[in-house]
Formats: sequence, C-alpha cells, structure tokens
Amino acid sequence: MRADVIAIVPAAGSGERFGHDINKAFFEILGKPVLIWALEIFQRSSLISEIIPVFSTVDMERGLEMIEKYSLSKVKKIAPGGEERQFSVLNALNLIDNSSSIVLIHDAARPVIDEALIKRCLDMLGKNDGVVCGVPPKDTIKETEGGIVKRTLNRKYITSVQTPQVFRFKTLSNAFSKIKGEKIEFTDDAAVVEHSGGSIVVAEGSYRNIKITTPDDAIIAESFIKELEDK
Ligand code: C5P
Repeated sequence: MRADVIAIVPAAGSGERFGHDINKAFFEILGKPVLIWALEIFQRSSLISEIIPVFSTVDMERGLEMIEKYSLSKVKKIAPGGEERQFSVLNALNLIDNSSSIVLIHDAARPVIDEALIKRCLDMLGKNDGVVCGVPPKDTIKETEGGIVKRTLNRKYITSVQTPQVFRFKTLSNAFSKIKGEKIEFTDDAAVVEHSGGSIVVAEGSYRNIKITTPDDAIIAESFIKELEDK
C-alpha cells in the first residue's frame, strides 16, 4: 500500500512576467481560475489524499472563497506564501504532521495536468530521492552572457523540467533543513534535494503541461483545456 500522498500547490507568486495586474494563478481561463483547474484534478484523483494550497496574504481571502465555491474538500490546511517559491513550499511542508507521507508538488500556474501524469510521477519514486517530470526542449539551448553566446548545449542532455515533482516528506524536509540560512534561489524543489546530494529521476512530462508565465501561455492553455473538456 502506498503512503498518503499530499499535493502541495504553490500559488503565491506575484506574476511579474504575466503583465496583467493579477496573480497569474487567479487569472481565469474558460471562466475558472488557473489554479482551480489544477486543484480540481487533485480533488478528483484517487491517488491524492490531501491538498495544501499556498496563498500570499493578498490572495488569502479570495483563495479561501474559491476552495469553498469549488467544494475542494481535500483542502484541510492552507499555507502562507513566502518571499521566494522555495519558502512557499517550506511553509506548506511545515504544516504536514505525517512524516511517512509522500509529497507531490505542483505549480498552481500549470492547469493542464491529468491523472496519468500524476501516476507516472508517483510510480517512479521507488528508492530514488525524488522525481521530476520533464520533456526534451524543442529549441536549441545556448548558454549566453550579456547577449553573447558562450556555448551551445547538447540537446541530448537537456530536459525542460515541469511539475509535478514527488518526494518522500522526510527527504524533502531534511534537504530543506540543510539549506537553512543559505542565500541560493532554488527555482524548483528537486534542486533543493540535488543540493544535498539526492538522486532525482525524470518521468515523462507533457508538452501540454505548460506553465502560465506570459499572456500567450493562457491562450495556448485555453485550447488544451477546451480539448480535454470536449472529450
Ligand atoms: O514564478 P514561477 O512561475 O516559477 O512560479 C511557479 C509557481 O510557484 C506559481 O504557481 C507561483 O504562484 C508559485 N510561487 C509561490 N511563491 C513564490 C513564488 C512563486 O507560491 N514566492
């Protein structure tokens, strides 16, 4: 039997790159906020036992209203946002009492996930320290500095990493303890575990699992969601 799987959904970003005067997680696609599309998948999933969303102080009230409006009964606790993404996740981890649980972290800004993707990530944890999902980049990736190309990276060795990311609670919480006081910005959770020498494996992600970052992403996500809804 698998341990309890708790989904942590950080939604406390400011969305500077999004341009609109709104946190992108609350931007509506087809009449529903971006984060609700993801939260509803976890609510319906038989693989997820609890959901902990992370809201910033300014969004806390409307966040709570939405949990109620969309009957997200798996939400028992809400974590306050942190200055950086890693602190938002840490605030959620601090609310978990069951140390034998598994945590699945998913960006609220990625509304196009499905049960198969969740399962693929969970199934790969095994004896590894963590799982990320990812896809091969479609573009050629070059390392640059000040607009000058330093080198071209071999695409064979590059993965464009997404969420969900899965860890045993204990592994992630130990890794977070080790970075306490360090001034490094970690842009995903696996990087925190890698920093303490953990082994991370890659599950097959999806090109549809886009992160809403700029307004064009919302247009693309809308067409993917429409297609899923029409099925
Ligand atoms: O900024 P970025 O697109 O990498 O954010 C990924 C996810 O992390 C978003 O869902 C965002 O709301 C969340 N986040 C957070 N707290 C922060 C920064 C980002 O919960 N301080």
